[in-house]
Amino acid sequence: MPISTIITTSFDDQKPGTSGLRKKVTHFQQTHYLENFVQSIFDSIGDFQGKTLVLGGDGRYYNEDAIQIILRMASANGFAKVLVGQNGILSTPAASVIIRKKQAFGGIILSASHNPGGPDEDFGIKYNTDNGGPAPEKITDAIYAKTKEISEYRTLDTDSGTEIDLSQLATHELNGMTVEVIDSVSDYAQLMNELFDFDAIRGMISDGFTLCFDAMHAVTGPYAVEILENQLGAAKGSIINGIPKEDFGGEHPDPNLVHAHHLAELMFSPQSPDFGAASDGDGDRNMIVGNNIFVTPSDSLAILTANADHVPSYKGKIKGVARSMPTSQASDQVAKKLGLDSYETPTGWKFFGNLMDADKVTLCGEESFGTGSSHIREKDGLWAVLFWLNILAARKESVADIVQKHWLEFGRNYYSRHDYEAIDTNAANQLMTGLREKVKTLADTQIGSLTVSYSDDFSYTDPVDKSISEHQGIRIGFTNGSRVVYRLSGTGTSGATLRIYYESYETNPDKMNQDTQQALKDLIKLSVDISELKSLTGRTEATVIT
Ligand code: G1P
Ligand code: ZN
Repeated sequence: MPISTIITTSFDDQKPGTSGLRKKVTHFQQTHYLENFVQSIFDSIGDFQGKTLVLGGDGRYYNEDAIQIILRMASANGFAKVLVGQNGILSTPAASVIIRKKQAFGGIILSASHNPGGPDEDFGIKYNTDNGGPAPEKITDAIYAKTKEISEYRTLDTDSGTEIDLSQLATHELNGMTVEVIDSVSDYAQLMNELFDFDAIRGMISDGFTLCFDAMHAVTGPYAVEILENQLGAAKGSIINGIPKEDFGGEHPDPNLVHAHHLAELMFSPQSPDFGAASDGDGDRNMIVGNNIFVTPSDSLAILTANADHVPSYKGKIKGVARSMPTSQASDQVAKKLGLDSYETPTGWKFFGNLMDADKVTLCGEESFGTGSSHIREKDGLWAVLFWLNILAARKESVADIVQKHWLEFGRNYYSRHDYEAIDTNAANQLMTGLREKVKTLADTQIGSLTVSYSDDFSYTDPVDKSISEHQGIRIGFTNGSRVVYRLSGTGTSGATLRIYYESYETNPDKMNQDTQQALKDLIKLSVDISELKSLTGRTEATVIT
């Protein structure tokens, strides 16, 4: 079968962000667009001749077309083997598991995470290296540099019947390259069996414990059905929206109280099961809800850390805990008390990978519904769900009781994030530039009833490779432990998204059950005033509050 070298011209917008390259499907469908990016990946990752690539995606629209294109290119470029998920399906954490387990050279994951799917919606592609984690910046920079100078790419002649049947588990040959269509779930499920006490969870469920998992029409459906229903015995129907759809049923597969509202309504109703959870488009995010209680992702990380000894494979093995800077300081309180090292990193999962590879950290998380551990190098939605179920089985208490007791022991970090989406990019930049100047002189000043203890533009020096990441968000910390953080999203697709994060710390048991927005209202007002948000952006209300 002939290999073709196709002449192409470059596009100037193929800079991968923290989660790879994300654009509208129609953008990816432009002639040579996906191919240019894939060839730029292949040209930047070193010598993979004779090696294995892992390939799969979250099942969104264009997933299968993209996979066929990438298979032809992988063959023409010299990979020996590609492991591709059945029907093109691999969740991000499953891809990370398989890359590590099969000692693959790397993997290509097709997803735009929690963003909508469909012909007019989003698509994405990212490259993960042999540790199973997202490519480090030196590789993504190299990929970007290649996209700017690319003039040709290599693929197979499509006239000669190169479509691989992805629907059946089978091994194919594609011009000398092996394509193995693998079970999307089994390697992942096996690792979860090794990490958690499935017998204890099974026992709890057979004793009448009930749960609801909302797969949001996205990739985790088959994983959740196999693990929660088939292996752990949850009643049929415990998984809702469990069949992956190309357009996620027209919804945002984003596990928060706004987008997973069916689950949220159920959990706050008299019909509530004991436990509720949801995951996102590609299965790396999670939301945890109990009967009448929502667990913030920041609290969830703190609670998993405090209770790790209830989980056999983590007992006595927590090296340290890391959180992204805007994530609440709840996990810091736990680390302090347990004598664990704690780390504050910039937003984005890749910073955790270095700490884990150096064995400094076992658990990590972000406020944006991402939690994970060193079992892989991606955040992992179902893993967090199973960690919770294992704790619930061991403690035999409700989610609400566990959370309340946690607050009594460690204090409560009230927490909320306000997003202002699709604001004018110039206005957003002006606001951040203004803040950057202001924070230089805020320390020790009084704002309303609060005194600023520190204020800065967060900069991070990686303790492992010593690389420096600057301008990672504006922090204003107060003497009573409250904090406001401002940063611009790096993953939005239209205009700019300003995120403002609020946190206040409460140790008085009589004040631990207030409404969150009420508890944070002074901070919210003050943050809007300091940033001149209204006059610069014209916005008076946040688009999404989580
Ligand atoms: C968002 C989240 C961040 C997460 C990233 C990728 O990035 O805030 O925590 O790592 O998605 O899932 P942002 O849009 O804020 O740059
Ligand atoms: Zn995701």
